[in-house]
Amino acid sequence: MADTKTNPEAVSAKLSLGDQTIELPVMRPTVGPDVLDIRKLYAQGDVFTYDPGFTSTAACESAITYIDGDKGELLYRGYPIEQLADKSTHLETCFLLLYGELPTAAQLADFTERVTKHTMVHEQMHYFFRGFRRDSHPMATMVGVVGAMSAFYHDSTDIADPWQREVAAIRLIAKLPTIAAMAYKYSIGQPFVYPKNSLDYASNFLNMCFAVPAEDYQVNPILAKAMDRIMMLHADHEQNASTSTVRLAGSSGANPFACIAAGIACLWGPAHGGANQACLEMLREIGTVDRIPEYVAKAKDKNSGFRLMGFGHRVYKNFDPRAKVMKESADEVLNLLGVGNNPLLQVAKELERIALEDEYFISKKLYPNVDFYSGIILEAMGFPTSMFTPIFALSRTVGWIAQWKEMIADPTQKIGRPRQLYTGPAARDYVDLRHR
Ligand code: CMC
Repeated sequence: MADTKTNPEAVSAKLSLGDQTIELPVMRPTVGPDVLDIRKLYAQGDVFTYDPGFTSTAACESAITYIDGDKGELLYRGYPIEQLADKSTHLETCFLLLYGELPTAAQLADFTERVTKHTMVHEQMHYFFRGFRRDSHPMATMVGVVGAMSAFYHDSTDIADPWQREVAAIRLIAKLPTIAAMAYKYSIGQPFVYPKNSLDYASNFLNMCFAVPAEDYQVNPILAKAMDRIMMLHADHEQNASTSTVRLAGSSGANPFACIAAGIACLWGPAHGGANQACLEMLREIGTVDRIPEYVAKAKDKNSGFRLMGFGHRVYKNFDPRAKVMKESADEVLNLLGVGNNPLLQVAKELERIALEDEYFISKKLYPNVDFYSGIILEAMGFPTSMFTPIFALSRTVGWIAQWKEMIADPTQKIGRPRQLYTGPAARDYVDLRHR
């Protein structure tokens, strides 16, 4: 990204504040809208800008992921998500996100080997799990266990050491599927299944979730491919709430495991990653196609507090490109499992049709997002709804850690410290208890 200093064509914007004119340099991205550099605004004009929810504020410079919300385009390091979903794998995409380029065959083999050799967790972590209530939500367990990785892997918490940063990244990508599967097994009272390094990344995760020591379990390759796609489609999404949380936590110098635990906590909310669980629960509650109009009417009624889960997005004002790929996968998986006429899928398809023709949804540009179809696939695979968000978390881990590494390596990085529009009382004198 070039700023006014390096780009001869760069322009600046002028801001009039009373009788003062402040010049704001304009930064030019590779693609996307220009960005006003307001860093010196407070020093020059004694004013702040106000933008709750960051709807118009770029909080960092990044070269990892780009979204064009109007076109419905998502690029990882410049590569369209549809091409990656068609031709790549999750681990290759992890390499791309982390290092900026698609790997050569040798680089991919080396990376796969490094990740695969880190899939086991410290044996003592098994006891740590036992401290949780059996009925804990797997996301609650994951926030705790991932945070605890900083206690188990001290030797990769020095953020000033590039090698330790790299080891932490590999450990997180390798161990998150193991931790998510353990959280699941613990919640259903089954023994933990150790990772199997002869399996690929997605198959290993399915095996750790669905195998039991007493029986042989064969991973279905079509389901493994669908799982790999789900992982890849969720791998990164530029400066969303959880990624921004990871960056903000990391900006103070916190260790990577603590930062990723913070990201997982943020992801859990129903407006973000928790929407996949909420969406499937909503489809179940609707139950039959004839009840859809009632729910659409409720979603349009501001006083109901109800939203159609799996619809709408802060950035996409067009179809979420991930949802398109996910819909194809849903058809493939349900047909394979012989449940192509699954009632939930029928409700989902009809809901999508009605919402896309409805004036309310059209005018507000509310399209189905990635969470609309992912839950249907995961349920068909045999996952309970409580595992949907943990699967999002393990898939997004590479994006979080790539963004965290990018931030730490950026010499201009500062602690994140937003300002505020204060509306509380001005200074006043303490009143003694007797006089209140
Ligand atoms: N159903 C009904 N109305 C909606 C919906 C919805 N799902 N989403 C937005 N609206 C309306 C909203 O009421 C508002 O109307 P008005 O302008 O009249 O006040 C307008 O659309 C804009 O909504 P907003 O809340 O200002 O938009 P936002 O950018 O702050 O919120 C969102 C984005 C994703 C939080 C929101 O669309 C939503 O709550 N969707 C449902 C939850 C969901 O599916 N989240 C998953 C997001 S994709 C996965 C991920 O990346 O985490």
